[in-house]
Amino acid sequence: MPNVVVLGSTGSIGTQTLQVMKHLPEFRVLALSAGRNTDLLRTQIEEHKPRRAAVLDKDAAQALGQELGIPVGFGSDALCELATLPEADIIVVALVGAAGVKPTLAALKAGKRVALANKETLVIAGHLIEDYLSQIIPIDSEHSALWHCFYGREREHVDRIVLTASGGPFRNYPRSLEEVSVEEALRHPNWDMGGKITIDSATLMNKGLEVIEAHWLFDFPYDKIDVVVHPQSIVHSLIRLNDGSYIAQLGPTDMRIPIQYALTYPEVLVSPVEPLDLVQAGTLTFEAVNHERFPCLSLAYAAGEAGGELPAALNAANEVAVEMFLAGRIGFMDIPRLVEDVMGRFAGKSFLSLEQILEVDGCARQLAREWVSSGKSTLKR
Ligand SMILES: NC(=O)c1ccc[n+]([C@@H]2O[C@H](COP(=O)([O-])OP(=O)(O)OC[C@H]3O[C@@H](n4cnc5c(N)ncnc54)[C@H](OP(=O)(O)O)[C@@H]3O)[C@@H](O)[C@H]2O)c1
Repeated sequence: MPNVVVLGSTGSIGTQTLQVMKHLPEFRVLALSAGRNTDLLRTQIEEHKPRRAAVLDKDAAQALGQELGIPVGFGSDALCELATLPEADIIVVALVGAAGVKPTLAALKAGKRVALANKETLVIAGHLIEDYLSQIIPIDSEHSALWHCFYGREREHVDRIVLTASGGPFRNYPRSLEEVSVEEALRHPNWDMGGKITIDSATLMNKGLEVIEAHWLFDFPYDKIDVVVHPQSIVHSLIRLNDGSYIAQLGPTDMRIPIQYALTYPEVLVSPVEPLDLVQAGTLTFEAVNHERFPCLSLAYAAGEAGGELPAALNAANEVAVEMFLAGRIGFMDIPRLVEDVMGRFAGKSFLSLEQILEVDGCARQLAREWVSSGKSTLKR
């Protein structure tokens, strides 16, 4: 009976993980964590009866713990504690942003299996995780697809990785992307996800983060990782073999499938999702990325190639930029401008410790906030 800890259980991936686990009666919910949504966490605790929980805020933790009669910790240390509980078998990291780094590393060092949705961890600390790759099963649909494609295959028989991208809501946007509103950017055509990843999908930064994620997970150089726009989101990703043929994974646009696979790997069990109807899926198309319209993808390739401080700077600047865009403080195309300007203040170096990464993260966030308050945004008020 595997004991599962779900970090970020109140988010999009977290809530879907709990849905999946209802169909896997042999899996037990050992611990849950939320950020600020204590109402939903309370409901989840009442339903799934974990032994422990964690939230961001100390007062909220104390109140919830007293009310529900289980230990509730707070902050980053509490996440690391849950991630290393001796009786835990699988840690699902469904946190968003750089908050995932410390608990993921703690879980890996404690020998836990990590079902990893939090791509930002691999982006900023991939080089620290290299030694633990055998413990990580990706949840991101593209990387889960690649996991299937690589299964049982010799690495040297694979020539390239091809990540598919839906193209987001602005693939055929008729106006300038400077005019995009928050509401438009939050309307993803194919996937229902948390706010940050939805904006990242609209700028294609999400695909850029996934390129870096794929680089670390599959040990492929950046010039052998391609991105192709596939608006139907049916082919979740592909590998190209040395002979020029492709292996692809196709499926419904439903994150419960990769979540379940990350929990049950290497077993593939019946899932609660309706199978893909190929005839109904209809025509599948592929097109090139418009890099001029979506500069975030090239910025992510550049950060990944340079390494050192740049991936952490890119990620931190992007997190602040997305937050500011959602708050109406900057425009949509300010996101790549801000990220590029902040990246310009950092250098590529070969190796950074966790402490150095977190220092770059903090410094890049500060520079990003200064960028916003210095009036560089082109947002028309
Ligand atoms: N959503 C998808 O379909 C999808 C697909 C592929 C990959 N991913 C990746 O999965 C990760 C999670 O995405 P999501 O869409 O599920 O995000 P989300 O809906 O925003 O959920 C994030 C979770 O993390 C918690 N959280 C946020 N900041 C925190 C902090 N500083 N400390 C502790 N907890 C914190 C949130 O708590 P509260 O809500 O309680 O504040 C929530 O439980 C991201 O890295 C994303 O790129 C998501």
